[in-house]
Amino acid sequence: MHPVQESREPPKPAAVITGATQGIGRFLADEFAKHGHTLLLVARNEAHLADAAKTVAASYGVPVHYAACDLTTGEGCDRVVKALAENGLYCESLVNNAAVLTAGFFQEQEREALLSIVDLNLRATIDLTRRFLPGMIARGAGGVLNVSSVEGFMPVPYHATYAATKAAMISWSRALAYEVMGTGVRICTVAPGPVVTDIHAKAGSENSRYVRYYPQMEPDVLAEAAYRRFMRGNWVILEGWLNKIVAIGVRFVPGFFLIPASGWFFHVRDADGNLVEPKPIRHPDMADHGKE
Ligand SMILES: NC(=O)c1ccc[n+]([C@@H]2O[C@H](COP(=O)([O-])OP(=O)(O)OC[C@H]3O[C@@H](n4cnc5c(N)ncnc54)[C@H](OP(=O)(O)O)[C@@H]3O)[C@@H](O)[C@H]2O)c1
Repeated sequence: MHPVQESREPPKPAAVITGATQGIGRFLADEFAKHGHTLLLVARNEAHLADAAKTVAASYGVPVHYAACDLTTGEGCDRVVKALAENGLYCESLVNNAAVLTAGFFQEQEREALLSIVDLNLRATIDLTRRFLPGMIARGAGGVLNVSSVEGFMPVPYHATYAATKAAMISWSRALAYEVMGTGVRICTVAPGPVVTDIHAKAGSENSRYVRYYPQMEPDVLAEAAYRRFMRGNWVILEGWLNKIVAIGVRFVPGFFLIPASGWFFHVRDADGNLVEPKPIRHPDMADHGKE
């Protein structure tokens, strides 16, 4: 029998937070717990999840559950639904926060890594939202907080695929926010500028100018603002005056200026600040030339 059917207790509400073991997601977990929400934390690394769940539960006295899964797969999203049922919970708030970033020349990035960006940043967001939104609408309560980026407001050379997923997320989230108006459900997207987390180092972009020169926000400051304004139902959450200027200002900047400026900020650099140049690629027709 299904675990939920075994229990006579009605399921209890929970906030599902993806990518909750580190960076922004970890601070969003604190923020939701601080306000009394039961949590289901999601990421791949089980030991990190267990550690985060234990710490958050001890700090705020709320039940904290976790599901270890890879959200780039449909089975990973199935696992989230199963974990809620096993713990007698339903998804009241969904925070689509997990994402990966790769940086550099598109032709040099691994094909699998590029597809993972699309699968995690976009496909899993749509998949999880499609699974949980009907229940939210039926209950007339709850919401989805989508963690996007200011990179979603412009083309970003060297982060082209990541920025495209963030642009799609903003467009999709705003459209859904309109669709659910009047149902009692909130669909919001937060678009941070650079935040102090490991995501840049993991992508090898820690020496890019956007990391060195653009003021970085602390993740707890962002998480507090995102939670507060999610509860208010703001469709697009921009925190920090510079992020507001960038997100609004880029609409008025022509592409011939905007895209090179964006490229100047996001070009990958080595530790000495030198530009990383593209690797030479041999013409495919020339690959076997001279072997005979
Ligand atoms: N940091 C910034 O400057 C910045 C700026 C703007 C927007 N954002 C956005 O903010 C969000 C969080 O970024 P962050 O900087 O906090 O990232 P982060 O520190 O790299 O953390 C990423 C989280 O996602 C999890 N994760 C990665 N791949 C996963 C997968 N396949 N399935 C499930 N979970 C996975 C990671 O845990 P496991 O590795 O254990 O799976 C980790 O908990 C992202 O949406 C990012 O695009 C960040």
